[in-house]
Amino acid sequence: METAQFETDLSLFKYDNLEQLPPAYRDLEEDERTERIEAALDELGDDVVILGHNYQRREIVKHADFVGDSYQLSKEAANADADYVIFGGVTFMAESADIITDDSQSVILPSMEASCPMAGMAEALQVDAAWAELTGATDENIIPITYMNSYADLKAFCAEQGGLVCTSSNAHRAFEYAFEKGDKVLFLPDKHLGENTAHRLGMEDEIVEWDPWDPEGVTAEAAVENDIILWEGYCQVHERFRESHIEDLREERPDANVVVHPECRREVVEAADVVGSTSTITETVESADPGDTWAIGTEIHLAKHLDRWNPEVEVLPLCGDACMDCNAMRQIDPNYLTWVLEELTEGRERNVIEVAPEEKELAQVALDRMLEI
Ligand code: 13P
Ligand code: SF4
Repeated sequence: METAQFETDLSLFKYDNLEQLPPAYRDLEEDERTERIEAALDELGDDVVILGHNYQRREIVKHADFVGDSYQLSKEAANADADYVIFGGVTFMAESADIITDDSQSVILPSMEASCPMAGMAEALQVDAAWAELTGATDENIIPITYMNSYADLKAFCAEQGGLVCTSSNAHRAFEYAFEKGDKVLFLPDKHLGENTAHRLGMEDEIVEWDPWDPEGVTAEAAVENDIILWEGYCQVHERFRESHIEDLREERPDANVVVHPECRREVVEAADVVGSTSTITETVESADPGDTWAIGTEIHLAKHLDRWNPEVEVLPLCGDACMDCNAMRQIDPNYLTWVLEELTEGRERNVIEVAPEEKELAQVALDRMLEI
């Protein structure tokens, strides 16, 4: 098997030097592409499993063996028997799959440009520097927790310092775990998920934000006066939702309910009826009564899938036309899926995600801790 070569240095597009789509695959029509994907999948049989995140476009989701949130996908990856796990998602999710699967299995991210901007907001070097300052300012024990939306070296760092990984569906349990083991939490990189989790645990008065880009920001001495230190990172797709979107909706459609993702701002989460991971959002709409209306505060593809999958429920995007797609998730183009599958039928692995061995072992500890809580 040929395997593509790549660097493991951190950057926003961590694997941007990997292989681009060959010209012959650029203009495929959907019918032809579907036919070719199905033919490749028939040939590859049980050797391949396709995992699709809820934010993937319809043309990817329709070929996925399993569609779910990041926590569910990491469990599916852990249970996968296939030689090749094709990941319809973003780099940090595929890295986690590589960490969790056996060394004999390959994880393929069809397009290596699918890098979550939020994961790039907490780079290991920057976190090392902050860690030295914060731990130097207190004798108390700080436990780092990183959101799944981060790169493998940050996960490894958290494991090394007694911390763990969480997703949006278990952040509260990760905080509880951390407070059993230590005195304070450093939560990275999503300040909104951190703040929303602190509220859920009744610890909203214990929060401080740590902005690594602001030389005038809070000092380490002041930060460690608080029990929860939140890294200044955010998701631009979810920051877009405002409380006014919910207020306007409630005025125009008093019958409508609102469900949002916990990466949304605090005031948006407070004004919503339900908050939860992308699987909670899915379950909320799936268990709605016929004729109910739900406005969705998350990435637009999931709102579109929910509308298609639940014709008896009225599904609205919370901020209408202003709702965004995730441009990292969008990089997983179905033409890329066709290419990586056809290459596999020829015995060639393309765009394989391989976490550096020295990061892998520790990052696995942080992920295992998450899977155990
Ligand atoms: P979930 O863990 O809820 O699937 O969310 C992942 C994500 O990237 C949200 O922006
Ligand atoms: Fe990252 Fe936001 Fe996209 Fe999720 S929706 S993958 S957090 S950019």
